[in-house]
Amino acid sequence: MRKLQLLFISLLAVCSIYGQNAKMDAFVNNLMGKMTLEEKLGQLNLSSGNIGAVLGGSEGMEDLIRKGQIGATGGYTPEAVRKVQIAAQQSRLKIPVLIGVDVIHGYKTAFPIPLGLACTWDLGMIEKSARIAAIEASASGICWTYSPMVDIARDPRWGRVAEGAGEDPWWGAQVAKAMVHGYQGDDLSKDNTIMACVKHFALYGAAEAGRDYNTVDMSRLAMYQDYLPPYKAAFDAGAGSAMSSFNVIDGVPATGNKWLLTDLLRKQWGFKGFVVTDYTAINEMSAHGIGDLQAVSALALKAGTDMDMQGLGYITTLKKSLAEGKVTIADINTSCRRILEAKYKLGLFDDAFRYLKEDRFKNEILTKENIQFAREIAARSFVLLKNSNQILPLKKSGKIAVVGPLADNKADLLGCWSTGDQNKVVSVVQGIRNAVASGTEVVYAKGANITDDPYLKERIKNPFAAYMGIKEEVEPRTSAELLTEAIEVAKTADVVVVVLGESSSMSGEAASRSEIGIPESQENLLKALVATGKPVVLVLVNGRPLTLNWENEHVNALLEAWAPGIEGGNAIADVLFGDYNPSGKITMTFPRSVGQIPIYYNHRNTGRPMDQKNKFTSKYLDIPNEPLFPFGYGLSFTTFGYSDISLSKNTLKGNETLTAKVTVTNTGKFAGEEVVQLYISDPVASVARAVKELKGFEKIRLNPGESKEVKFAITPEALKFFNSELKYDWEPGEFVIQVGTNSQDLKQAKCSWVK
Ligand code: BGC
Repeated sequence: MRKLQLLFISLLAVCSIYGQNAKMDAFVNNLMGKMTLEEKLGQLNLSSGNIGAVLGGSEGMEDLIRKGQIGATGGYTPEAVRKVQIAAQQSRLKIPVLIGVDVIHGYKTAFPIPLGLACTWDLGMIEKSARIAAIEASASGICWTYSPMVDIARDPRWGRVAEGAGEDPWWGAQVAKAMVHGYQGDDLSKDNTIMACVKHFALYGAAEAGRDYNTVDMSRLAMYQDYLPPYKAAFDAGAGSAMSSFNVIDGVPATGNKWLLTDLLRKQWGFKGFVVTDYTAINEMSAHGIGDLQAVSALALKAGTDMDMQGLGYITTLKKSLAEGKVTIADINTSCRRILEAKYKLGLFDDAFRYLKEDRFKNEILTKENIQFAREIAARSFVLLKNSNQILPLKKSGKIAVVGPLADNKADLLGCWSTGDQNKVVSVVQGIRNAVASGTEVVYAKGANITDDPYLKERIKNPFAAYMGIKEEVEPRTSAELLTEAIEVAKTADVVVVVLGESSSMSGEAASRSEIGIPESQENLLKALVATGKPVVLVLVNGRPLTLNWENEHVNALLEAWAPGIEGGNAIADVLFGDYNPSGKITMTFPRSVGQIPIYYNHRNTGRPMDQKNKFTSKYLDIPNEPLFPFGYGLSFTTFGYSDISLSKNTLKGNETLTAKVTVTNTGKFAGEEVVQLYISDPVASVARAVKELKGFEKIRLNPGESKEVKFAITPEALKFFNSELKYDWEPGEFVIQVGTNSQDLKQAKCSWVK
């Protein structure tokens, strides 16, 4: 009976989807029947700014929208979006415009950068951060976000590691799903959900030498096993659109790569949404050496790229290519249909002004609850890297010196790609002042500039500063004066909290670095502070793993706070004073030196694994192979003890489920959370496998002395991998199950599994 009921419910669901699709098909067919070629090409065109002049005329954006020449654009205020949609309503067929913006880590309520969000290991909170971003962005008229970025990154020189979830494909896939669900909710046509755009498809994070936009060259096996899973997970979660990446794949730029955009994405994975290019990526195929604008535009369309972002290649050349037989009307129709379908699914044809209800803009942005959530998620994104002699948490009394160029800084706490308002940011020194008791003295000194290197200084200037009306701050004092003041201040204090790292423009797009240490001016400050003999707590604000050997040896505590967002200062104070016990774990390896890069925990073994006693093994002469801080690492104010692993069975067959259990005990004095991590190794297989792979985790909270049993249910699904024929399956044999506090510090137990 129950089964029959279920069958009936599923049938109803299928019929309703079919019914909705049939309605959408009929609507889009009817509309496309009325469209001219020019209007169809207009739908494939995403443009903003003064493009009329580029097109050889004097028409403004709204005139072009009225002529049906723009299918999508940007828009940061409800007024701007309203103007766009009014112009669209004045066009012949009244087709609404898609409004897309880079809403990457919160909208007005700015959350930590995505790499920080990933370090929370809290999928519920990550999803909620995207949900809040969608509510705030939609209240401002936006219906489409160029997020999530799910590029796997193993090279911290690449500035865009700040925008993703780190190096692990399994974790990347979980985060990707959570973000898509957060943005799109359960119904895209609601007025508080927005369409996700999965980017950058694909492999953008593997740019050679970590230099942005550089060549990617990778085996199919590495693609399938290590890089593609997060994209696939995001599409399986229903993401409505994808953005093609700038890089080449097998020598062909992603934007013109038919294997990628049609064979893999649509035929193998069944993606039904539309593909937009990255910014002018069609045009850039000419610099890749693929052909002139007409040739690369035709190539992109035929490959499966539906919308041209800001390049004007489609709108200026496809008509000619059609006349010359280089593309067909069917190619144009297919892309046009996909874009109209996206607008239909968003409900824009029902009401183009659906997001623009005035009370929403007033009531749903920067609410008290959203700001409180920003504080909580920021505190959970921090990773305690060192805490010698339990110097943290600090007492809320005595005299605290807060020093460093990022200590009284607001803009850089927002991080790259922020839509947040820097005036609303709580700086670290402010957060500390808010937290301490009234008798506590908090003294501040800047101590150094972010950098004094003229070459770097020039390159990290915000290129849009003039446009955004931001005035460059000019420091009137010399570096020596800044330093002297800071040392004087430090000498009088009980403890020094020094806030160092990177400005927000030092990570993100076009922000690769060849050295990833703290810039010299700040290093000098740190060395001078350590030399005072005062206890030094280093709080890091930055967008990538850094090399921190000297710091790790000499400071008393190290707290990685990333770019923490609007409530950064309060959240940092929460952790420094123990109001929140840190629980974040890094999702990217911290190397000892740039020479070790690329460095990641799930590497393959060589035929000569490192052996310090044997010279002819795979290692460096000058430094250990191990990273400074491994993937999954992060301390707490308390300590956790792990029992041995107990397995429900040692020999398994077929689709049986293995249960692995450990008991975790809080062995310290503070209540705290621990991310209990599960890794599996497959030591013998038909292809060389990663030494271990993350397959699960549980985040638990324990009071002092409390224990909890953590159980992982493992099925053969977790043993599957791509073999050299790219078949995804598992092979029988022995497996090593590992559970522990980070990717290096693990208990292990073995089992064998036969088919
Ligand atoms: C970036 C994308 C971004 C796009 C639109 C590009 O330069 O690579 O990540 O979504 O610009 O702003």
